[in-house]
Amino acid sequence: MLPLVDKPIIQYGVEEAVAAGIDNILLVTGRGKNAIEDHFDVSVELESFLEARGKLDQLAEVRKISNMINFAYVRQGEPLGLGHAVLVTRQLVGDEPFAVILGDDVIDADPPAIKQLIDVFDRLGGPVLAVERVPREDISSYGVIAIEPNTNLGDGIYQVRDLVEKPPKEEAPSDLAIIGRYVLTPDIFPALAATKSDRTGEIQLTNGLRELLKTRPIYAVEVKGVRHDTGNKLGFLKAVVYFALRRPDLADKFSAYLKTADRRTAPR
Ligand code: G1P
Repeated sequence: MLPLVDKPIIQYGVEEAVAAGIDNILLVTGRGKNAIEDHFDVSVELESFLEARGKLDQLAEVRKISNMINFAYVRQGEPLGLGHAVLVTRQLVGDEPFAVILGDDVIDADPPAIKQLIDVFDRLGGPVLAVERVPREDISSYGVIAIEPNTNLGDGIYQVRDLVEKPPKEEAPSDLAIIGRYVLTPDIFPALAATKSDRTGEIQLTNGLRELLKTRPIYAVEVKGVRHDTGNKLGFLKAVVYFALRRPDLADKFSAYLKTADRRTAPR
């Protein structure tokens, strides 16, 4: 719920899904995440307050969120990993392909990042992962893919030969890191159910995909866009600056401020 400029991070992911034509959204939440449900709920009090004050722009903005889509929530009782978070949606997702968006990876892209994956899915008919080349020294923070050589699927599109979750940098099979977007098929659910917890006690989605790879091809696409990992402090700060500099109402003054910010000191 931390805001980037003036919208909670999670809303960027929701708006990306909506812009890609997705209108049923399932949020997997944990304990104490009621603020998320309230944020996307219809706020009768807020709407009538804004209406009474004639704040029609803000009213339209608020209604845009609550009218956009159907939201449902699933609680992940214990934080047992990303694979487990996907597995708890099994009954509600049912027997259809679905998209997974990890809210802390915020991607500014046009077409929206998840739409770029959906386009590959529509063409190739198998699960698709978003990947990005990352510097070697950062690779062990990600799931990493190895690609099938000699497959020509198009610009930045690969067939996955293997995947490994957070390898030491010496063992990483490439510099192509999985970033938080996936289009998956329902056969991921039995694959995840058959996936053992890793040494940290978590069920990893990467390991579930590795299981699934035994039975069908999986693809990856290098997403065209700018990604921010808002899950760490530096990434969060960079994202705030990036989005603030793209806001017409803030850009000039904020940019002028940044140019002098490191010279400002409080008198002591
Ligand atoms: C998760 C996935 C990892 C992926 C990453 C992208 O890790 O397990 O494979 O590369 O998201 O952000 P986390 O960042 O949750 O540790």
